[in-house]
Amino acid sequence: MVTQSRPQAQTSLDELVSAVRAVVERQADWPHTARLVARVLERCLPSPEVLTAEQRAGDPRGHRSYPLHIEPDGTFSIVGLVWRPGQVTPVHDHVTWCVFGVIQGIEHEELFTLDEESEYLVEAGTNTNHAGDVSGFAPPGDIHRVRNAGDDTAISIHVYGTDVSRIGSSVRRYYDQPVVCA
Ligand SMILES: [Fe+2]
Repeated sequence: MVTQSRPQAQTSLDELVSAVRAVVERQADWPHTARLVARVLERCLPSPEVLTAEQRAGDPRGHRSYPLHIEPDGTFSIVGLVWRPGQVTPVHDHVTWCVFGVIQGIEHEELFTLDEESEYLVEAGTNTNHAGDVSGFAPPGDIHRVRNAGDDTAISIHVYGTDVSRIGSSVRRYYDQPVVCA
């Protein structure tokens, strides 16, 4: 019998998809699901080769996202994000839970809260994530901005609890108001 071996990156993506599916099928609440998916991603973090060389090169116009898997029933998506040095997202929050793991480079995250009275953003902390680091969150309280703070292209794998191809992205809204210190 002839068996065809599959590329290592595809094998690890298949393992990640199966493991995330097993968690999502439990239909736990968002915070619990995010914690469980984070454990899965720590165990099954794909290598950068899960993206093509062209994708891994990044785009001088801004950070790019590449869907790697959309679950057929729309319950989750796995996306690769590629950032060149200095590239940054707008401040935003999300429509659903998200778990992400850095697989190359360094990503710096700034967290914010929204002051209900002034409508200003208030600084609420920072995280610096290196290759191998996994974290996650579930709305509300998930306003952030992410940048590539390193000298090399950064790549991360994001798992979202929705079909991002149907709704366009994981973003609920963007925030462009002033930021004040806590
Ligand atoms: Fe985000």
